Amino acid sequence: MKTKIGIGARREFIDELIEQQDLHPDFVELAPENWMKMGGYWGKKLRQVTERYPVTCHGLSLSLGSPEELDYAFVKDLKKFLEEHDVQIFSEHLSYTKTHNAHVYDLLPIPFREDAVKHVAQRIREAQELLGRRIAIENVSYYTEVDAEMDEATFIRSIVEEADCDLLLDVNNVYVNAFNHNYDAKEHIKNLPLDRVAYIHMAGHEQVEPDLIIDTHGEAIIDPVYELFHYTVNRMKEVPVLLERDFNFPELTELQQEMNNLRSITEKAWRNNYAVAK
Ligand SMILES: [Fe+2]
Repeated sequence: MKTKIGIGARREFIDELIEQQDLHPDFVELAPENWMKMGGYWGKKLRQVTERYPVTCHGLSLSLGSPEELDYAFVKDLKKFLEEHDVQIFSEHLSYTKTHNAHVYDLLPIPFREDAVKHVAQRIREAQELLGRRIAIENVSYYTEVDAEMDEATFIRSIVEEADCDLLLDVNNVYVNAFNHNYDAKEHIKNLPLDRVAYIHMAGHEQVEPDLIIDTHGEAIIDPVYELFHYTVNRMKEVPVLLERDFNFPELTELQQEMNNLRSITEKAWRNNYAVAK
């Protein structure tokens, strides 16, 4: 996939995507859990989308941070889905969504600790082996205290190295965490393994308190996040970039404009196929 700008496919605008009305992404991202084993009307829509666009997938329920073993039946179905739709990048959250067989339907942060690095890296390795492909793990936004032995960038770097996986860098999540936990976003980006970034997410968020913002994916991208994106892409190689918008949809032309903004920033940064910065 050459440098591409994509959008998360939502049912609310699936017809416009299929018809390329107002939206002209280079690829689309699907949450496999929402589309696996789908027949009938939505199964047909899925086929139309995957015939028109290259596809990436962003998983919701592999729960890489959970204490128990992987859900092997689910991994098998996932592998089938990824192969069937020729999915180019598969990513998952660096978090957990279930524990002791209870789905909590939220992304819980993994403690930034050495024992967690070992545990999660081993699960990622196993998942990669079963899926027969690399996984890009995503830095998540978190709102609760995590029992930290190391900073977040060290934690992410250690897992990526130990698991030998890729990184999905969500630039908005970095902004959200830096704001809520009071650290320097650029410094954090600089300390991440940027040479392992295979994919970028960009999104909007919502400020709910003077000192709290929430990663909602329900608003337009704000200027400081574009600025952090600009800072980031100037320090790394060319990868696909995705616009996430999950609800509170504006006119689709506004989403296309956001994708155009991302394209113009990346085109400047990657015009000369920029080598990975130290
Ligand atoms: Fe994301």
